[in-house]
Amino acid sequence: METTPGMPSAGIWGVGRAVPARVLTNADLEAMVDTTDEWIRTRTGIERRHIAAPDEAASDLAYRASRQALENADVAAEEVDLVIVATVTPDMLFPATACLLADRLGANKPAAFDLEAGCTGFVYAITVAEKMVASGAYRRALVVGSEILTRITDWEDRATCVLFGDAAGAAVVGPCRAGTGILSHVLGSDGAGGDVLNMPAGGSRMGTSEETVRDRLHYIHMSGSDVFKFAVRAMGNSATESTQRAGLDRDDIDLYIPHQANHRIITASAKRLGLPLDRVVMNIQEYGNTSSASIPLALAEAWEDGRVAAGDNILLVGFGAGLTWGATVLRWLDDGDRR
Ligand code: UT7
Repeated sequence: METTPGMPSAGIWGVGRAVPARVLTNADLEAMVDTTDEWIRTRTGIERRHIAAPDEAASDLAYRASRQALENADVAAEEVDLVIVATVTPDMLFPATACLLADRLGANKPAAFDLEAGCTGFVYAITVAEKMVASGAYRRALVVGSEILTRITDWEDRATCVLFGDAAGAAVVGPCRAGTGILSHVLGSDGAGGDVLNMPAGGSRMGTSEETVRDRLHYIHMSGSDVFKFAVRAMGNSATESTQRAGLDRDDIDLYIPHQANHRIITASAKRLGLPLDRVVMNIQEYGNTSSASIPLALAEAWEDGRVAAGDNILLVGFGAGLTWGATVLRWLDDGDRR
């Protein structure tokens, strides 16, 4: 769906990020499972990842990232009337992490809910926020991707434990001049692929029991090569479609911010799109795969590094458990574009 020309629009007013202090290097992992720094670097691009402290939850990282985003947007917490947290690792199954976050921020009884779309969560969440703000129903949305994936990582499974890290990224979404802000989006899913990436137990299908814990069913289970093949195809297709729906072509894209799951997936998708690597944001080497936090984290970091300027066309593309995929093209706002 593209935004309708002339209709009110919504865009990102400010971004923020948070990562835990503790770092786990590939060398640390060599001492834990049968792996090597060389395998991890060449197969994934990851060199280290940040790991939450035992008492750190998704809402704690979300809080830090949100404070930064609100400050950068020059928006007070009391003005926020919508909070969406994309996560697969909420503080608890319920209540929603978004409610806990809103309360801690001091927001004034906003609409608040969690959204679960695997690693595509942030792209889904920002699309929902854009629609709710552009309609005029809400004025200031806080959209967060926050994950403590290391809590559901099986540290005895070398095929997955080397991949994941913890982080949060946040964006404040507000109204803006038509033709700026979020220009287009593509969202999709294929539940037939639900079994290639999941956490089998702990839900209503398979409640928690001694057996599920013994059988290590409360951890991430993944068929890496199946996800890999799906990812390159889904990213290429949704990115191309989203760019077309925005009325742009690939040369108009100033910055490509893909979900950070594997450097080979990122470079293959950039190649498929015909985008040179200097227009691609890649920080997987520092953080690993942080699921729904990875895109807003990379966006906030690119903004801090001065890689994002007013008027730039930015392409965000995600894929993940579900299976899900999503892409959005946004035009970065000038202060004068805000409404
Ligand atoms: O965010 C969405 C979620 N996840 C992803 O996007 C992940 C997408 N998939 C991937 O990134 C890649 O598939 C992986 C990095 C997970 C794996 O890379 P691969 O090139 O697909 O390797 P593979 O799974 O085909 O395994 C190749 C070999 C196997 O050994 P054999 O059977 O060929 O002897 C694995 O046992 O590598 C072995 N292996 C490892 N060796 C050393 C798997 N994990 C490790 C490891 N260290 N950590």
